[in-house]
Amino acid sequence: MTVSELNKEYRAVLVEKKQLNEDTFYLSFRCPDIAQKAIPGQFVNISCSNFLKRPFGVASTDVANGLFYVGVKTIGKGTNSIASLNEGDMVDVLGPLGNGFNFEGFDSFILVAGGTGVFPINFASEYLQAKNVKHTVVQGFRCKSQIVMNRPEYVLSTDNGDVGIHGNCCDCLDTLDLSLYKNCAVCCVGPLPMMKAVGAWATKNNLKCFVSMEQRMACGIGICLVCVCKLNAEAEGQEFKHVRCCKEGPVFPYEEVIF
Ligand SMILES: Cc1cc2nc3c(=O)[nH]c(=O)nc-3n(C[C@H](O)[C@H](O)[C@H](O)COP(=O)(O)OP(=O)(O)OC[C@H]3O[C@@H](n4cnc5c(N)ncnc54)[C@H](O)[C@@H]3O)c2cc1C
Ligand code: FES
Repeated sequence: MTVSELNKEYRAVLVEKKQLNEDTFYLSFRCPDIAQKAIPGQFVNISCSNFLKRPFGVASTDVANGLFYVGVKTIGKGTNSIASLNEGDMVDVLGPLGNGFNFEGFDSFILVAGGTGVFPINFASEYLQAKNVKHTVVQGFRCKSQIVMNRPEYVLSTDNGDVGIHGNCCDCLDTLDLSLYKNCAVCCVGPLPMMKAVGAWATKNNLKCFVSMEQRMACGIGICLVCVCKLNAEAEGQEFKHVRCCKEGPVFPYEEVIF
């Protein structure tokens, strides 16, 4: 670990745990430095029962109380062990890690979330709300029971039409009146096929799009190369280049990513 990464390792106490649905939990940890420094799109690496920490997008912060929030969907040993922590338990946490969304240069945003992407997109929405920047949140879920982190003003779709628009995020995007969004960018976090489709939709509508590449990770700090993805590098005279999602990402411009 480099000195700068060592400076990002903390002990944090689990302050509160809420169950959002059958397999998803919302956890707040006390760590004033992470609460203060994190920006939307960045992530934290949290210790668990396994050797390697697990990455989670920062879902919110409460700077006054020194808290940061993450949402955890249980899929394997690591996420289950984190979700079964009790309030008062301690974890080791590295963060904030990676490069978040760069909102500079745009006047409005369409934020698109699928799966656990709803958590980092929640933080992006809170951040823009606090700065009074026009934005709309679009969420896509499989069905009603999967809906978390929703607010009445969001544009919502479900694959089976349980609630909201029957279809996916792109069906929601098609309902937006784009003339209301001046100098707009799209920010998207979700499964790869969804980000690919949303990026194509944005390109078709002449909008810049940023995607967060939540590749499987190990170290989370640029050492192991587990998380590499390919970016177009024609401007640098090569067909493509490899980048580390944990270090150079996880947020990249859609048009640079080779899916
Ligand atoms: C930058 C980043 C941000 C993330 N943010 C969140 C978040 O906010 N909330 C959340 O619940 N999860 C998030 N994840 C995913 C989370 O880190 C994984 O679900 C977790 O590491 C799995 O650990 P596990 O030990 O429970 O499962 P494992 O036993 O390690 O894996 C179980 C299964 O999930 C697959 N898997 C593991 N990691 C990923 C991944 N990144 N993408 C796709 N498949 C994977 C494995 O291949 C395996 O099939 C994020 C991942 C990244 C890289
Ligand atoms: S996870 Fe190790 S280099 Fe990215």
